[in-house]
Amino acid sequence: MNVSDSERMVNLLIQDGWEPTDSPETANLIIFNTCSVRQHAADRAISNFGALKKLKDKKFIFAGCVAKEKEDEMFKRFPHLDALVGPEAIGDIVSVAKRIFSGEKVLATGFLSYPEFSSSFTAYRLPLTAAVSRFVTIMRGCNNFCSYCIVPHVRGREIYRPKKNIIDEIKYLVASGAKEVTLLGQNVNSYPCFPQLLEDLNKISGLLRIRFMTSHPKDLSDTLIFAMRDMEKVMEHLHLPLQSGSDRILKAMNRHYTRKDYLSLIEKAKKEVPCISFTTDLIIGYPGETDKDFRDTLKTVKEVRFDGAFSFKYSPRPFTKALEATGAVPEEIKTERLDILNRLTKKTAEENKKQKIGKVLEVLSEKKDSGRSRENFQVFFNPETGPGELLKVKITSASAWSLKGKIISG
Ligand code: 5AD
Ligand code: SF4
Repeated sequence: MNVSDSERMVNLLIQDGWEPTDSPETANLIIFNTCSVRQHAADRAISNFGALKKLKDKKFIFAGCVAKEKEDEMFKRFPHLDALVGPEAIGDIVSVAKRIFSGEKVLATGFLSYPEFSSSFTAYRLPLTAAVSRFVTIMRGCNNFCSYCIVPHVRGREIYRPKKNIIDEIKYLVASGAKEVTLLGQNVNSYPCFPQLLEDLNKISGLLRIRFMTSHPKDLSDTLIFAMRDMEKVMEHLHLPLQSGSDRILKAMNRHYTRKDYLSLIEKAKKEVPCISFTTDLIIGYPGETDKDFRDTLKTVKEVRFDGAFSFKYSPRPFTKALEATGAVPEEIKTERLDILNRLTKKTAEENKKQKIGKVLEVLSEKKDSGRSRENFQVFFNPETGPGELLKVKITSASAWSLKGKIISG
């Protein structure tokens, strides 16, 4: 989401006549785009931004979720700051840039009362992303208010991008070389009639693959599972955050599903889409998490056998309900639990990948020697080839996070 927002800002500026540079020293304008989901990321963004004050004769914009989170203090702390741009104002980056160059200090962190989804296309691609595979934001904000999460407080309520606008952007990206799109949203499957959107995108000629993230378990419908089963271009991968395997903790987190609900979704998806892969997000050390709660998480993770997981220590965030919760888990217990969980998820990821040895996978090349399989596994291959090729690769070895193989046809 952050990469996609950054691409959008750069794109809007390029359309206005700006040019990207390779280094901060040669820039006239420096924009920091930030994520506030965990304290560590927010702290790092702020300290890196502070370090820039030694660069003279430049304008500085601090954008994204941390700009919203810290709207009351940033100008006081950083005299070199020219504008704060919250996530809802990213589409206004050009007018903010113009105003600061005429000497104003700009605070653009308010929520709009009738927010519109600005329809700019993300033509510009950050060097971080592959040209064949592009992100397309389809919604912003979140209505879920998970008790630990700052996102609804800094990004506001859900708004959905008009379908026609999404289709037009994807056609444009395909015409400029993209073969795959990943539809982005904090909660993509709450997009109205999401399976119908997939059906419409499935018809775009020249587009080979459609991915989407993140899905919320409470909104994962049978129709969406059937869409993954039936539509050739919709890839067989679900990023489905579990967060915890303990019903008590899930309830405290305000997640609206139980461990059993989650497992039955996984079972249903595996039954309909046999080669599906699952990745997840997990939080350990939520206030009040006992050894038993943690064991329930381990048990659930063992049952699902995830192909990958992002596991985080609970990080207290401003504005969230969880700040009121008692029973903070000591840091050393969080560290110990995270370590145990990481070892388990790595082991399962590796075992799952080893199952692919000897099999032939369909791989879309992104670089000359690597690409991704339908299940979203990274695959290294030889002989080398160009990006954007749909290849058949016979897998010869596997580690927890990637596979290696030989191209047998392209
Ligand atoms: N502490 C730790 N992890 C968090 N996440 C969101 N908020 C917090 C928090 N306060 C994690 C969740 C989410 C992912 C994007 O970040 O697992 O799915
Ligand atoms: Fe945060 Fe929950 Fe919304 Fe995800 S669904 S962005 S975890 S509030």
